[in-house]
Amino acid sequence: MAYRDLALEIVRATELGAIASSYFAGKGDKEGGDKAAVDGIRYYLSTIDIDGTVIIGEGEKDKAPMLFNGEKVGTGKGPKVDIAVDPVEGTTLLANGQFNAVATIAMSKHDSMLRPGSSFYMNKLVVPGQAKNAIDIRKSASENLRNIAEALNKDVRALAVFVLDRPRHEELIREIRMLGARIFLAPHGDVTGAVAAALPDTEIDVMIGIGGTPEAILSAAAVKAMDGGMQCMRAPQSEMEKSRLLAEGADLEEVLNLDNLISSDDTYFAATGITSSPFLKGVTFKANGIVTTHSIVMRSRSGTVRYIEGIHNLKKKLSGVEYELPG
Ligand code: FBP
Repeated sequence: MAYRDLALEIVRATELGAIASSYFAGKGDKEGGDKAAVDGIRYYLSTIDIDGTVIIGEGEKDKAPMLFNGEKVGTGKGPKVDIAVDPVEGTTLLANGQFNAVATIAMSKHDSMLRPGSSFYMNKLVVPGQAKNAIDIRKSASENLRNIAEALNKDVRALAVFVLDRPRHEELIREIRMLGARIFLAPHGDVTGAVAAALPDTEIDVMIGIGGTPEAILSAAAVKAMDGGMQCMRAPQSEMEKSRLLAEGADLEEVLNLDNLISSDDTYFAATGITSSPFLKGVTFKANGIVTTHSIVMRSRSGTVRYIEGIHNLKKKLSGVEYELPG
């Protein structure tokens, strides 16, 4: 198998994870939905010819059922790769049957993803390629947004800014409102926000604010592939997180750019919609066991971004593998 074909393999994994977890939409069962996606993705990854190590597994933050950090995935026969996986990005969204839950995987050359250590939260700033030289996360939000608007040749009042709706962002939101830019407050899901910001054809121009560190590294694989701009800083949200980071020698003033987040120039990113998001439709069940999925997959080496519609027949083998769906 050519290395580039791994892009299609990881999409099969996110498709399986998305279909399996979609049975949990609105059922109020965060763990059940996460576990269904974890099981599906773990199973499919085990069939791929890679010698993979999970560097970013989701769950430590909220004790979810996870593909744990250091877990070996793949048949062990193919290339050595780092894997970041968030089987359900937006577990609460899925549990509530809300929009924007996606199944995601990123992959890159062995030993190229940042080891997050005790970092659970990062401050993030993501923009499309046209504005990548206009950002400096150490500057104020207003200064950045003014510079981004100028780089995109837009009135700042037309700029669309994705922000997670959190009390910690109260000041940030006030500042953006004072500036006059438009804000899209999301209950969860800043990977979707980052991808939407870096993709040229969505209504979102910028993603800004503090979210999960695993999600930052996943997003970096996508932003690299789209040649977008991204900067992060560790942003501990508790004294414990801060003291652990300091004990590990982390520099809290360090600006992490895309190469610091993932040093490889060969990154892959795949996401499949579980529920619908601005650039992906969710899993849709049709008559007679037909189910459709919508995915995006990209690779930084070629810069190719593909949207893939999958039409699956649940009466046959899903993705060609024996896998029992939870439904
Ligand atoms: P989960 O899928 O793990 O629930 O994460 C959802 C999410 O909203 C991420 O998109 C975001 O980076 C992170 O949580 C923010 O963390 P918190 O909810 O603790 O503010």
